Amino acid sequence: MSIFGKQRVGEDPGKDPENARGGTYPGEYPENERSEKNGKGIPVVETIGGLREQLAVQRKSGKSIGLVPTMGALHAGHRSLIEKSAAENDITVVSIFVNPIQFGPNEDLDKYPKSFDADVSLCTEAGAGIIFHPTPSEMYPDGFSLYVDSDAMTDVMCGRSRPGHFRGVMTVVSKLFHIAAPDKAYFGEKDAQQLAIIQKMTRDLDFPVQIVGCPIVREADGLALSSRNTYLSDEERTAALCLYRALSLGKLLAASGERNPAEIVKAVTNAIGAEKLAHIDYVELLDAGRLCAISEQTSSVLLAVAAYFGSTRLIDNLTFEWCDRK
Ligand code: PAJ
Repeated sequence: MSIFGKQRVGEDPGKDPENARGGTYPGEYPENERSEKNGKGIPVVETIGGLREQLAVQRKSGKSIGLVPTMGALHAGHRSLIEKSAAENDITVVSIFVNPIQFGPNEDLDKYPKSFDADVSLCTEAGAGIIFHPTPSEMYPDGFSLYVDSDAMTDVMCGRSRPGHFRGVMTVVSKLFHIAAPDKAYFGEKDAQQLAIIQKMTRDLDFPVQIVGCPIVREADGLALSSRNTYLSDEERTAALCLYRALSLGKLLAASGERNPAEIVKAVTNAIGAEKLAHIDYVELLDAGRLCAISEQTSSVLLAVAAYFGSTRLIDNLTFEWCDRK
């Protein structure tokens, strides 16, 4: 039995003797490449060695590589990243991997939505060239014990309520960067803290990859697309609209001259608090680049919220200019 499915933030997958080996066997990938099975001609590669082999051929012929890391259950938000990568690179790799080490003990790892066949179709239509779909034991083989972490930006916003989450994200994204060695990698502004942390990690650890941030894709009524929206009841789905409404109110207050961050946070908190199905995790207004308190150096700000609707935790944010307002 594999521990995966039970693996959580803070646990060490390598400590479980039953954890199957990952790693790479030469010649392993043709059996694991399921391009026939999905019927659309886009290869689905399950091993690190297989992906490296395919990309080495592409790289040798001078092709540029774009990487779009995802956890699957793909929607139009993911699609926008894939399309951008396909427009800017010769070949786009989409990774689909529900990364166990970025989930906390009481989070939704076991029930995280899955729609693999539809994901393959979406990737194909959006212009991806290869899907990388490793198993947990391929990514975290027996004895895995090394993680990437940051002293900065991880103790605010989601980092406060999800300790260890960004360590899991940085570790898996570092591995994907090493495995795919992309020229560019695409991340959504929907996960603004994740994007800022990945940008910093890339700078601090000298990854030779350009990080491209992509705008938030929303439903017509303003709800930010999220794989977790599928958990919402109709009532919760309607209630969740309060997030974008409250963020827009905060932005409007700032645009009309409010310079006191606490007043903006209060107004946004009250607006979400008025919705009885919403339970706020945080409302924060921070320097957008450094995710710290607004200072004289701040030029743009990130207004970010997280709230529960039932057991579903949703996040959303807006970024806007700050310093040139009088
Ligand atoms: P996941 O939640 O699947 O998101 C994959 C990428 O899609 C992220 O960069 C996310 O910001 C982006 N995205 C999600 N919803 C979006 C929306 N409505 N508009 C624009 N972009 C959107 O984020 C992760 O997976 C994981 O943490 C990962 C980076 C893959 C590491 O495991």
